Amino acid sequence: MRSSMLWTVASVFLFWGGVSPAAPPEKGPAPGISYRRDVAPILKRHCTTCHTKNDAQGDLNLDSVKSFAAGGKSGPAFKAGKPDESLVLRMLTGARKPAMPYKQPPLSKALVSALRQWILAGAKDDSIPTPVVEHIVLPRTYRIAPAVTSVCFSPDGKLLAAACRSEVVVLPVDGKGEPQRLPTESDLLTCVCFSPDGQTLAAVGGSPGQYGEVRLFAAAVGAASRAAPAKQVRLGSPDLRGETFQLRSARRIGKDTLFRGGFSPDGRTLALGGADSAVYLVPSGDGEVRKYDLHSDWVSAVAWSVDGRLLISGSRDKTIKVSLVESGRLIRSIATSTDYVNAVVSTPTMAISAGRERVPATYDLKLALGEVALRGTGNEMGPDRPSAQYTRRLETQPGEVHDLAVNAKRTLLAVAGNFGEARLYALPDGRRLATLTGVPAPVYGIALSNDGTRVATGSYNGQVGIYDAATGKLLRQLVPVPLAGKN
Ligand code: HEC
Repeated sequence: MRSSMLWTVASVFLFWGGVSPAAPPEKGPAPGISYRRDVAPILKRHCTTCHTKNDAQGDLNLDSVKSFAAGGKSGPAFKAGKPDESLVLRMLTGARKPAMPYKQPPLSKALVSALRQWILAGAKDDSIPTPVVEHIVLPRTYRIAPAVTSVCFSPDGKLLAAACRSEVVVLPVDGKGEPQRLPTESDLLTCVCFSPDGQTLAAVGGSPGQYGEVRLFAAAVGAASRAAPAKQVRLGSPDLRGETFQLRSARRIGKDTLFRGGFSPDGRTLALGGADSAVYLVPSGDGEVRKYDLHSDWVSAVAWSVDGRLLISGSRDKTIKVSLVESGRLIRSIATSTDYVNAVVSTPTMAISAGRERVPATYDLKLALGEVALRGTGNEMGPDRPSAQYTRRLETQPGEVHDLAVNAKRTLLAVAGNFGEARLYALPDGRRLATLTGVPAPVYGIALSNDGTRVATGSYNGQVGIYDAATGKLLRQLVPVPLAGKN
């Protein structure tokens, strides 16, 4: 089961509390034995971690009766009506090795019996086909505010985009103007970000185990300003009523949720992490998506080097990897973290990461990508612990870090996570500058305006906070989505 805090919402979709069927009588098929009611829950609970379309151990996919019947590399998994000649039962009882579930305690007699009864009764398929979620229906108003999983300022600092489960809400930072709601088809969005010119807003997420999604919204001049063509209304001008975002493209990518990343400095490509351990490069125009298999677990976050030539990716595999944008070639794997990496950002000289370890770390990119220095002379000479030369650890945070943010000049670092505050540090020295207190925890997303004057936080309870970076003072606190009973 996915355990990251970010997934508490998604887990609801995934959780399967299968109820064990009562043991049917051994003789003859039990009346009314049902695949849907009795068998599917067993498979779902005990088998499909290793036997699905995406990960079919022994080439066996147990997602449907059809694929179950088709069997795996040894042929059909069962013979309808003949349980004792069925491969699956022989493996469940251990008569044939390896016993299933693989390297786990055997199923209880009642569960094995249910499978036997079903096969004996002819292995009928009474499942109700569950269509892939095609349309996420957004409520007009919410009874409970959905968690805000990511926040981002427009480059001019006038708008704030917040990812609220399946929709993005774009808010005027000064509160003057209407929020705009942008729907997606993601069960859960993980990232919102603006292109460097502010003309494109990306919403990233997906449906666990089904698809990743990238929606691009283009800044458009709305009807209000079209009526007055003489007055040129630019994005983020005080006249926000004229500003709208319109869906420009929607892509489904891969078979699982996509995670945080951002636009390349030239705004032409979006780099994102994948739950399938890959880094994705998604063009903001047409063109092919590129996929680099770099990690061995979820890629939680991807950052571009400031010159746009390198990708810095952080993963639940506990490493940070530096690779070439052009080819995906891995240049350096940095394995100094002892736990999940949840966030990465870059400066012209450094990569910075943080995660479950609670200690943000900076890596001097020039040293990290250079040669391993030698220490000592003569017989004493040997390679130094290379990572110690380029890694510096900042202050320990009160809890797991979920997100990091930097300003455009990369002189400020903002840190937030499973604790009721957000901290601001000076870069490159890592001195703490300000502490924003009273942030509803856990905080999933943090953003800094390009000019470094504003900090925004997104919390599990659906609240967004906007703060003055210099003083740490809370300027506004709001729930971006409309709540029932509050018009
Ligand atoms: C932890 C992973 C894991 C789980 C859980 C698991 N299996 Fe398997 N299963 C495997 C592996 C690995 C193989 C391939 C074994 C081999 O051929 O050496 C396999 C093979 C099989 C095969 C034979 C496929 C073939 O054609 O060779 C069957 C049938 C099977 N599993 C049924 C089940 C059932 C039913 C369950 C649940 C009760 C289950 N498995 C749970 C890992 C798993």
